[in-house]
Amino acid sequence: MEILIFAGSTRQDSYNRKLAKAAAEIATGQGAQATLLELADYDIPLYNADLEARGTPPDVIRFKQALHSHAAWIICCPEYNGSYPALLKNALDWASSPVKGDPVWGDGVLPFRGKVVGMCSASPGGLGGLRAQSHLAPLLLNLECWLAPRSHAVSRAADAFDAQGQLMYPQDQQGVQAVLSQVLWAAQRLHA
Ligand code: FNR
Repeated sequence: MEILIFAGSTRQDSYNRKLAKAAAEIATGQGAQATLLELADYDIPLYNADLEARGTPPDVIRFKQALHSHAAWIICCPEYNGSYPALLKNALDWASSPVKGDPVWGDGVLPFRGKVVGMCSASPGGLGGLRAQSHLAPLLLNLECWLAPRSHAVSRAADAFDAQGQLMYPQDQQGVQAVLSQVLWAAQRLHA
């Protein structure tokens, strides 16, 4: 089973990127083939329907293709002001916009329907980005993703990773493992 993992941050020392890398290692250990996607590699402008009407930007098409070609995703989500960052919302809005004759999704009005998604988050605070997850979940469910019941939030993220970027604490390793187990379980049943 192939799984796409990405962080909603382009910050150089992003905790969520570290979390995405840790999740990829855990996924590999669970027998999955993990692909790490880096949003900084995609030049995605702010969504504007007029811009889209003139032609979907090439990097948006590349991002859609990455999402389309994976049945299962893990999103590692930062928390800004109790919600998820504009960067992530913008990328997901572009990717899920129903474009007539879309070269990636076709004519479906719900391009993400049936995608199996797990949410993780990391933040320096005590809740670890849980409130961002609580806002991201309705977006994903609205698009009819299959959202894993388990999620994991890494709190006090400044102290949660070692110098190699590995998750230091068993509760975080086990939490991410649990999310991945559910995502892979569901993806095998829905997309095998
Ligand atoms: C934050 N941060 C933050 N953290 C948190 O736990 N709850 C919050 O509501 C907020 N709010 C917030 C607003 C804004 C505008 C910024 C810039 C930051 C801190 C945030 O979690 C921290 O910057 C993380 O390091 C962001 O994730 P990455 O980039 O490290 O993955």
